[in-house]
Amino acid sequence: FKGTQVLSRPSPKLQGTPNNLPDLGEVRGQETAKRALEIAAAGGHNLLMSGPPGAGKSMLASRLPSILPPLRPRELLEVSMISSLAGELADGRLTDRRPFRAPHHSASMAALVGGGIKAKPGEVSLAHNGVLFLDELPEFNPQVLDSLRQPLESGEAVIARANHRVSYPARIQLIAAMNPCRCGYAGEPGHQCRRGARCASEYQARVSGPLLDRIDLRIDVPAVTAADLITPTASETSAAVGARVAEARRIQRERFLSLGVSASTNAEAPASVIETIAAPDPGGLQFLHDAAKSLALSARGYHRVLKLARTLADLDGLDTVGRIHLAEALSYRGQDLARQAA
Ligand SMILES: Nc1ncnc2c1ncn2[C@@H]1O[C@H](COP(=O)(O)OP(=O)(O)OP(=O)(O)O)[C@@H](O)[C@H]1O
Ligand SMILES: [Mg+2]
Repeated sequence: FKGTQVLSRPSPKLQGTPNNLPDLGEVRGQETAKRALEIAAAGGHNLLMSGPPGAGKSMLASRLPSILPPLRPRELLEVSMISSLAGELADGRLTDRRPFRAPHHSASMAALVGGGIKAKPGEVSLAHNGVLFLDELPEFNPQVLDSLRQPLESGEAVIARANHRVSYPARIQLIAAMNPCRCGYAGEPGHQCRRGARCASEYQARVSGPLLDRIDLRIDVPAVTAADLITPTASETSAAVGARVAEARRIQRERFLSLGVSASTNAEAPASVIETIAAPDPGGLQFLHDAAKSLALSARGYHRVLKLARTLADLDGLDTVGRIHLAEALSYRGQDLARQAA
């Protein structure tokens, strides 16, 4: 205050980004799943992978952080505040890596959405601005899973108590993996479950319809073929895929900035905005019209298809959403459509 000593500017304690993340290049084959992972990363969409044991679902999910762009300063601050509250900030150092939380399926509701004696933030808030990975999805307690529906829709987790109410931010990207049935191989060529068709239907029913409805990308991950394992073709590294993801995210951010919308990814955009920014070209419009009618798309389904198609066009660097983008977006709701047809 007297001006006798000038304090030096504090320098931020940033943890250097470790580049020892597992790389996408190590995954053999599974081109569809890799494409879906790239789309999910580019637009912040939720993703569900279903397939037999050992196909590489957990392996793929754990490689998502390596293709996501780093946190921006504002996001970094939010993430750090939450980890600090939860007592998880390792010696005060910040990191610009996006959070990747993978709670075990025995997690309680308090552990997942927050609570306990001091109303601490749960996994869904610790994954804010990052990824919540739920491996073996149907093994979670169905009630615990359903408690995720509200945070997934509103982007915040509210913990209500008799005398107070706490809300933590929880804008997450949900990645889930599951086997198609209890024994794990339903739908594989030549396999017949011992318990018949009930095996798959009972197992899948543990995940509620409304939760599934919030997942834009649902893909099957079949067992990796012998040819892919023994004579693998060169596959892309995380750096190459990450560059495309970063470019698609930049396009989205600039678009939302110019529109004055506070979203940063297509997945977060409100429905009214999505209808204007993802308006298809005439060919696409006709296609969407036919598809929506014959597939009986719900209103939420319709908007989710548009969001996904917008991300696909952004990955292609195109301004307008075309027929090809809509067709691919619809294909990722395949299981949904098969159920309706049945
Ligand atoms: N596509 C693949 N390319 C290379 N290695 C693979 C692939 N798929 C599986 N593996 C190998 O198999 C191991 C198990 O894979 P992973 O844990 O991802 O299977 P999963 O699909 O999650 O199975 P589960 O349904 O039992 O959880 C991996 O650690 C890896 O060594
Ligand atoms: Mg697994």
